[in-house]
Amino acid sequence: MRLGVAVSGKGSNLRNLVERRFEVVAVVTNRPSCGGAEIARRHRIPLGEFPQSRFGTAHERDAAMRAFLVAHEVALLVCAGYDRIFTAALFEAFAGRIINVHPSLLPAFAGGMDAIEQALAAGVATTGCTVHWVTEEVDAGPVILQAAVPILPGDDAASLRTRVQAREYEILPRAIEIVSNAARAAVRQ
Ligand code: GRF
Repeated sequence: MRLGVAVSGKGSNLRNLVERRFEVVAVVTNRPSCGGAEIARRHRIPLGEFPQSRFGTAHERDAAMRAFLVAHEVALLVCAGYDRIFTAALFEAFAGRIINVHPSLLPAFAGGMDAIEQALAAGVATTGCTVHWVTEEVDAGPVILQAAVPILPGDDAASLRTRVQAREYEILPRAIEIVSNAARAAVRQ
């Protein structure tokens, strides 16, 4: 399945997909100097750079991003550490074709980039990660897969993030396989 991956951060989920030979045909970013953009460059994956500074509005940025993704015939857009909410300019073109990986057991600790820190601050015994469909409501779309991760005595954000991300590297590829198998089955019907 032709994947587009949206990144803003270090890009370890993107690297995991590339290393597992998923068909990543385009990477888009709002932060051209991030680790995810570097991974795209290193693997010669077409990289669309859309820093907000180049655009008047978020809608204009997303319209340019949509055009890039459409030009590369992206079938499924994977948000892997992308730190912006899509406007209708992109969302409507890819509605029902965007998934996200979030570092908590949604619906717990939704809506921010600090879910790991929130879980530690809340003192819960277990957190985890979720791959879900992206809908207009942030972090609230239907769940595809989740994995639980125990919080251990002495954990800090760095140690917990490492263990949560290790599970992300398992469930994001599996979720993409589930989605692409379902798409293939739908075509056969
Ligand atoms: C992941 O932990 C993901 O759950 C969250 O952002 C992080 C991205 O990490 N949405 P990376 O850029 O893939 O290393």
